[in-house]
Amino acid sequence: MMFNFTAKAAVVTGGGQGLGRAIAEALLRSGARVWLAECDAEAGVESCTALAPLGPVEFVPTDVADPAAVEALHAQVAAAGGLDLLVNNAAVMVRKPLAELSVAEWQRVLDVNLTGPFLCSRALAPLLHERRGNIVNIASTRALMSEPHTESYAAAKGGLVALTHALALSLGPEVRVNCISPGWIDVTALSKHSRCQPSQLSARDHAQHPAGRVGRPEDVAGMVLYLASDAAGFITGQNFVVDGGMTRKMIYVDDQ
Ligand SMILES: NC(=O)c1ccc[n+]([C@@H]2O[C@H](COP(=O)([O-])OP(=O)(O)OC[C@H]3O[C@@H](n4cnc5c(N)ncnc54)[C@H](O)[C@@H]3O)[C@@H](O)[C@H]2O)c1
Repeated sequence: MMFNFTAKAAVVTGGGQGLGRAIAEALLRSGARVWLAECDAEAGVESCTALAPLGPVEFVPTDVADPAAVEALHAQVAAAGGLDLLVNNAAVMVRKPLAELSVAEWQRVLDVNLTGPFLCSRALAPLLHERRGNIVNIASTRALMSEPHTESYAAAKGGLVALTHALALSLGPEVRVNCISPGWIDVTALSKHSRCQPSQLSARDHAQHPAGRVGRPEDVAGMVLYLASDAAGFITGQNFVVDGGMTRKMIYVDDQ
């Protein structure tokens, strides 16, 4: 389905790389104006330069965990005329055994992955309210299931799913708020140049998914566009799992 976001404006946090960059690209191709709120200058400039031929895109250096930076983002967007969509996509992950995870590391993951969406939503909600806009939060299937040594990330993403329905109740009916929980999405090709590595997916990686393949960035970007469109006008407060069916798969080891 093609969506038309002509004359719409969107903020994509973490838009310098990976899924955020793919979401920004899909929005630009649909006619939107996009701000990339990104803390990594190399990634932000690279992404902005690559996407500029597609439409109006701007890199706004932003640490989403910093209230002052989020206020500055709000001021810039407000001065430009308004906002229709906020995609809370920026996140970090720490994998560390529980006993070694410091309070500072735990706190930084919570600050970026959960407080960041809170700060951006709180700051930009009045602009979204004016234009009956949308918030789409990017959580993770790790909000629902875990590997060892991922406590801070899982807890933050679980919080983000809950924040989604809380915001939907507080900001509706003018602003709809939904969440996408991606599974394994191969974003290697969308990393900044200095971090970019060739994708090394095996046949087994693909085959273990009920859908027969690992996810692509456009699988998530397409869902963002749908949720932000009028076609999703009766959907709010929900979490959509985009994982090729992995969270529906029984994984007990069968000895026979
Ligand atoms: N790729 C996957 O398989 C996958 C799976 C589930 C969920 N997700 C979620 O999707 C989103 C994007 O993930 P990705 O794989 O593209 O990651 P990524 O690391 O490739 O990109 C994340 C971007 O966010 C930016 N960022 C980090 N901290 C920030 C901050 N404080 N302020 C502003 N920007 C910041 C980074 O610089 C980076 O450009 C994240 O929320 C992640 O948790 C990804």
